[in-house]
Amino acid sequence: MIVCKSPAEIERMRAANELVAAVLTDLRKAIRPGVSTGELDARAEATIVGAGATPAFKGYHGYPATLCVSINDEVIHGIPSQKRLLVEGDIVSVDVGAVLDGFVGDSAVTFPVGAVSERAALLLRVTQESLYRAILAVKPGGRVSDIGYAVQRHVEANGCSVVREFVGHGIGTAMHEEPQVPNYGPPGRGPRLAEGMVLAIEPMVNLGRPAVRVLDDGWTAVTRDHSLSAHFEHTVAVAEEGPYVLTARGDERFDAVLAPAGLAASDGVETRWRKRTRLK
Ligand code: MF3
Ligand code: CO
Repeated sequence: MIVCKSPAEIERMRAANELVAAVLTDLRKAIRPGVSTGELDARAEATIVGAGATPAFKGYHGYPATLCVSINDEVIHGIPSQKRLLVEGDIVSVDVGAVLDGFVGDSAVTFPVGAVSERAALLLRVTQESLYRAILAVKPGGRVSDIGYAVQRHVEANGCSVVREFVGHGIGTAMHEEPQVPNYGPPGRGPRLAEGMVLAIEPMVNLGRPAVRVLDDGWTAVTRDHSLSAHFEHTVAVAEEGPYVLTARGDERFDAVLAPAGLAASDGVETRWRKRTRLK
């Protein structure tokens, strides 16, 4: 069953989601060569707890940390550690979830550490663009598989590949609700998108082949061919006027990425995606 949220509930979801966005904005400043992934985790946990919220991942099926921090060929679910230091040229995916006022927010960004290779920069750009194109596909009356179709088309047109083993998800009072949101497949299938649905859309994209495996720690997913992998995630509400990006960061410029691709008038997306839902 897909739980639709009322406009009032979506307003309430703002708190957890804005906190998650603020954690990622703050972590961007801390990400540099020499910092440990354990330090990043402690910093995120302090921000979340300081805001009166709870880390959503910690304890989830026994997951031991606040963040998932996944470096280079690590796709998702990397476990933070004081012993793992970031190195210039790395790409680092940071996934964060928080519970506040009874609702969960979930978002991820892959950051460059200092200067990165051209291939790495392309992967980050293509993965983020694929998330934005997926969000553009979110409209009442559309279908869940339109999202994955938008991701896959853009990713493969740019010579990268989509991870199949992990999917996005509905989100609300629980972190993982129905429906599942794959990042691949044909359009026009699956449940119809309706006002009040809230989805965590999270493309995971590899520079090489799509296959992944999970390390012996039981969590860390890595690419089988050791190619670089990136992950961008937003929690998005389906509103009458289109998508509403609950985890939008203040420093994020949707139009800058979408307008050059001819995807949106430069005055449109930025305002629409950030607009508060109207209470009915
Ligand atoms: N964003 C991830 C997800 O939606 C984070 C889950 S990590 C876990 O599945 F440890 F909590 F499983
Ligand atoms: Co998620």
